[in-house]
Order: sequence, then structure tokens, then C-alpha cells
Amino acid sequence: MPPPDSASHIARRFQPFGTSIFAEITARAVAADAVNLGQGMPDADGPDWIKDAAARAMRDHPNQYVPMPGVPALRAAIADRFATTGGGRRPDPDAEVTVTSGCTEALASTMLGLLNPGDEVIVFEPFYDAYPADLAMAGAVPRFVPLRMTRDGGFAFDPAELISAVTPQTRAILLNTPHNPTGKVFDDGELGVIADLCRQHDLVAIADEVYDHHVYAGEHVRLASLDGMAHRTITLGSFGKMFSMTGWKIGWAVAPSSLTKAVRAAHQFTTYCVAAPLQRAAAEALRADDAYYTDLRARFTHQRDTLAAGLRELGFRFADPAGGYFILADHTPVSRPRGFADDVSFCHHLIDAAGVATIPPSNFYLGSDEGSRLLRFAFCVSEDTINLALERLHAWREAPPAR
Ligand SMILES: Cc1ncc(COP(=O)(O)O)c(C=O)c1O
Repeated sequence: MPPPDSASHIARRFQPFGTSIFAEITARAVAADAVNLGQGMPDADGPDWIKDAAARAMRDHPNQYVPMPGVPALRAAIADRFATTGGGRRPDPDAEVTVTSGCTEALASTMLGLLNPGDEVIVFEPFYDAYPADLAMAGAVPRFVPLRMTRDGGFAFDPAELISAVTPQTRAILLNTPHNPTGKVFDDGELGVIADLCRQHDLVAIADEVYDHHVYAGEHVRLASLDGMAHRTITLGSFGKMFSMTGWKIGWAVAPSSLTKAVRAAHQFTTYCVAAPLQRAAAEALRADDAYYTDLRARFTHQRDTLAAGLRELGFRFADPAGGYFILADHTPVSRPRGFADDVSFCHHLIDAAGVATIPPSNFYLGSDEGSRLLRFAFCVSEDTINLALERLHAWREAPPAR
């Protein structure tokens, strides 16, 4: 008989990861009736015309298994959209596009299908929290390269540190641009350094570009569009992020056919195929005209600016994020005078005392304790939600500290 402690049933490879911080904070926020600027979960519920398309698809089409790599109409729409954003060629929908259950599954199927036990993968830190768990599932090993906060509150890596992270075991580099949680958009020079490294050491690039339609300064540049990168890059995307419908869990992997075969080798045995009516509706959604994407960008820019102005007034320190859903701020000018030393205790205090939930980013670091002075705030929510959170934070700041 196994011991009664339920933790003992968890496979060793998952034991270091505990419960996802997003599940934990969202549950705390609901219980405390806090405004949730934690998990990247939009509170505007996606366009009605896409929901209508799903209802029609469910009524008028068979609700049975669809082809393992995805419904052809969706793969074609992904290929067209891929070519209009970020530069680069149009992928072949049959051989180079795979529809997955959210980018979450695209990440897992990529790692499981591509990597052998002992392979090393270079990962920028802070990272999206699924990455180390995905690598652990594949038996692969992360090598972290820090993104450090600069004097202006932005984040940058040292090219020398990146170069020295390569070993004979390095198989791939994992890049997320625009980046969660920092909001960093890797610039041409930085992408060039990464591409050079991939070419020199014959590495595969895994480019998590789920925020490719959430760039607020300049335009998104795909890693795959750089010279010599198309045939070695797996680019991952997310319908949920593009249409503020995160619960649909539709994502994709775009890669040359040799790498697509690796992704599909795992995809066929993880989910096999993704909910058929939602794929058909997503195919219609991805044909939205440019006005949809222009409006999306304008709305998010406004939300970002509202949150940034309010947080700055409160004393948080950061540079405006150039992309993505989040502001990653140094909380110490606000928290230290109140006696808080780290992100976890301050985050829990703000849920209870201010009624505002954020994410403590130390969960996004394994190689350093840099995260303890930072907090992540989501701006993928409405102006009203952001303003309510700011009002509560102001009220909290004005209240005398509890003794
Ligand atoms: C960087 C990054 N990659 C992947 C995902 C997962 O995307 P999906 O919701 O499509 O599974 C997220 C979601 O927050 C993310 O921020």
C-alpha cells in the first residue's frame, strides 16, 4: 500500500513543480473577492461572431474526430496569418502546420517529440512556468540565461552569458518574444545574436510567439524570418491570446516538415486532435480583417498605459512593456517601507489587505532569487477592472499599516 500522503503518488519528475502559481493565486483571488491582475485571463469574453461560428459549426458539421494535424481550413488560415505577421514565408499547411490544444500542448508536444533524455535547452530566465516542467517530462535539462532588470526598468541578457550556456549537449534554444512575464520584445540585434548562435551550433529554435499580435511599439519580428532560421525553427502560437478566448485552448506549431514530424510524433499520442467545432470557428476567426487586429492593439495599448500610469504613481518601478499581457515591476519602493521583503509575502498581503491579486514571479526563476523583488500585473483586463484595482491599491497605500 502506498503511504496515505497524496504527494507520494506524484511522479518524481513533477514533484519539484508543485501546484501552478496561476491556479493557486486565482483560487485565492476568488476566495478573497480580490480584483484579479494575476493570471493572464481577459475579462472581455471574445467576439460574439466567433461564438456564433462555433455554434454553427457544432450544428452543421459532424462532431467527430478530425484529421490529427488539424482541420484543413484552420491550418490554411494559420499559414496565411503566419505570413502576414512578423515576416517570413507562408508555411505549407499540410506539412508544416499542426493544430494543438493551446500553445500549452504545442510546447509539450514539441519537447516530447524533439528531445532525448539528457539534451540541454537554453531558456531565458524569468520563464513561462510550463517550460521547466515540459523539459522535465522529456527528460531534458534547462540551461538558464538571465534577463536582468536594467537601470531604466527594462530587461536585457548578456550575449557572453548566452554563448557560454552552449555545451556539447545543447540541442535547442527556447525564445519567448514578446516575453512573459517581462513584456520584453527582443530587438533585431538580440534576435541576430540568437540566430547566429543557432547557426553556429546547429541548434533548433523553439519560438514561443503567442503574443505576436500584442506588440505596442514597432512590429513583431519572427525568429523564423531571420536568415538561415526558417528550416530550424518551430514557431508556436495561440488562438486564445489573439482573440481573448483563452478557454478555447487552440494553439499551433509551425515548422519545416522534418521538425513538424517530431511535433506530430508526440501530438498524435497526447491529444490526437483538438475540439472539431472550435477548430472550424477558429478558421473563420483567423480570417478577421486587419481592423480587428488594429483595434486589439489599440485597446491593449490603452490598458497598458492606464495600468502603467497608476502603478508608477504608487511607486512601482518598471519600463513600459513593449508587448504581451504583463507589467513586471520592482515592488521594493512600495513594499520595503511597509516591512515586506519578498514577492510571495507581499503578493499575499495585497490580496488580503488591498483586495488585489498579482503573481509573485519567483516562480519564474530557478537559477536566481531575482524574482523576489518583482511583482507581475496583468493588463489583459478591461479599463474598469484596472481602475478598480488601482483605486484599491491607492486606498491600501493611504491606510495606516496594520500593527
Ligand atoms: C508565453 C506563453 N506561452 C504559452 C502559453 C499558453 O498558451 P495557451 O493558453 O494557448 O495554452 C501562455 C499562456 O499564458 C504564455 O504566456
